[in-house]
Amino acid sequence: MRFTTHHVTFEYDDVGNGVPLLLIHGYPLDRSLWRSQIEGLQAVARLIAPDLRGFGQSGDAPDVMTMDDYAADLKVLLDALNVKQAVVCGLSMGGYIALALLAKHPNMVKGLILANTRAGADSEQAREARHANAKKAFAEGVSPIAEAMLPKMLTDATRESRPSLATFVQAMMSKQRANGVAAALRGMAARPDRSDWIKSINIPTLIVTGSADTLIPPGESEAMHKAIPGSKLVVIPEVAHLSNIENPEAFNAAVREFLGRLK
Ligand code: MLT
Repeated sequence: MRFTTHHVTFEYDDVGNGVPLLLIHGYPLDRSLWRSQIEGLQAVARLIAPDLRGFGQSGDAPDVMTMDDYAADLKVLLDALNVKQAVVCGLSMGGYIALALLAKHPNMVKGLILANTRAGADSEQAREARHANAKKAFAEGVSPIAEAMLPKMLTDATRESRPSLATFVQAMMSKQRANGVAAALRGMAARPDRSDWIKSINIPTLIVTGSADTLIPPGESEAMHKAIPGSKLVVIPEVAHLSNIENPEAFNAAVREFLGRLK
């Protein structure tokens, strides 16, 4: 589906019945990240999965997209769909954005699912690497960035035993535009540290990660679990950064159980 505002076009999926569940993809990905959730959860939720600005089939981004900028786009989309409140699920950068959306529009968020993400900001070294990668995206294209990331997205065992899944993830990353990738990198570098702020979260929260996530290690999820009162932590064994796609059955079961408890 397509929605245009402020001269920016957003492409999104809107399928299923039940509580609205906003699915926010990570970097450098697009809404096809959520294909197994669209398939497996549409009987229990209304799944709204947009391509973030600069990614997938959505319009181009400005030089920088802060987490607040993405959150503002999502608010506009939810308003256009007349969705007053949603469960918000973000993976990795999508989690940074979910926290920004909750901070800005607490009444819109009925529950929070934080997948393979963290609350902290970047170190100085990480920031420098992001800015270097933003330049690289324009100079060399997105493919080398995608190639370097693939081993962190799925475990070695999964890449070997399910080559078509590895190809799918590699293709999803490689086809992203330098413009969107650079804007996201600069935006992530500028994101605030929310490690203390998350202690004030007072809505139902599910934290999901993979035991073999080396990009954002499970310790980050454990720290968020300790900080967010009443949160639930699910660590899926033997999966890496894209836990929702590497073990969709376990991921969807955790989400289904969480949604069931929200009623
Ligand atoms: C993501 O998967 O969204 C990003 O790799 C997260 C990050 O780089 O911090």
